[in-house]
Amino acid sequence: MELVQDIYRQPLVNVKGVPLLKYIGEMVEPIQSFQAWPDDLLISTYPKSGTTWVAEIMEMIYQDGNLEKCQRAPTYERVPILELKWPGLSTETPAPRLIRTHLQLALLPQSFLDQKVKVIYVARNAKDVAVSYYNFYKMAKGHPEPGTWDNFLEKFMDGQVSFGSWYQHVQKWGELDGPINLLYLFYEDLKENRKREIRKILEFLGRSLSEEMVDHIVQHTSFKEMKKNPMANYTTIPIEIMDQNISPFMRKGVCWPGWVSGEGRVEAAARACPEPLGATCVGGLRPIFPSPGIVGDWKSVFTVAQNEHFDAHYAKKMAGCKLKFRWQL
Ligand code: A3P
Repeated sequence: MELVQDIYRQPLVNVKGVPLLKYIGEMVEPIQSFQAWPDDLLISTYPKSGTTWVAEIMEMIYQDGNLEKCQRAPTYERVPILELKWPGLSTETPAPRLIRTHLQLALLPQSFLDQKVKVIYVARNAKDVAVSYYNFYKMAKGHPEPGTWDNFLEKFMDGQVSFGSWYQHVQKWGELDGPINLLYLFYEDLKENRKREIRKILEFLGRSLSEEMVDHIVQHTSFKEMKKNPMANYTTIPIEIMDQNISPFMRKGVCWPGWVSGEGRVEAAARACPEPLGATCVGGLRPIFPSPGIVGDWKSVFTVAQNEHFDAHYAKKMAGCKLKFRWQL
């Protein structure tokens, strides 16, 4: 349990202006000499944006839909995280390698750019990321104490959370398109139509799969399937490091219901909702009930004041940015 003591609720360290977990900060320098191979595939995301989801989709593609092969080891071994010491990337890993990273672009080893490695970037709307990240901070003990939701949200907006600013992350990686081959995906699009997005990935990879195989991948990578798959749901990580009793990695509607108007504006962050699902309420409001892996979960957590404050700040940080995020489907 030495590892647990080493990482337990340690403060973040600052590496070239990016706040990082201490053990990740220590890896930034050594991985700068990492040798990427031209046929590597890098999945890049800000945390809580659907990394594990796309990793599973990619594994299914690379393993020709063979479930046995995809269940040979947990996600973090099958698709290792570049900046993690354990299990770490090995030169023994046979090509073509799938690699994940949460690093800000400025901290990425140069070799990925020199080798023009293909990158799949997955972005998710900032409000759902903030809510998901807060729950993750609570259960993943390698993070500092998250404090109250209000405090955490401020830190998130200020980029003072692990891996730094969401705003910078989604924008800077987007600018990579052109110098290297980048496919920019959105969590919300995957949620809306996974089959369409898988086809986009296949085209990007220059691969083709039968209709049946694509359907098979769609089925295996549903929230329901992944939640019960021990090789995808992180239940292989000791409870001392990730306590899924506090919040499951694949959360399941753990947030409270809220109320939303027809236009999707938050009307009140009610902490209890007496109406059945789909009911229309007085004043044109309808209750929202989070379903697993949803878009728009933030509405049940943000107060009206937090939402207004966030929107004003967002408008400034994203001014001039062409990326369009969807807050709900
Ligand atoms: P929530 O916490 O909102 O549920 P990451 O892998 O980047 O850490 O992202 C984790 C988020 O992706 C979690 O969001 C998790 O539930 C969601 N997720 C993982 N697999 C998913 C799937 N198959 N469908 C929808 N969401 C998924």
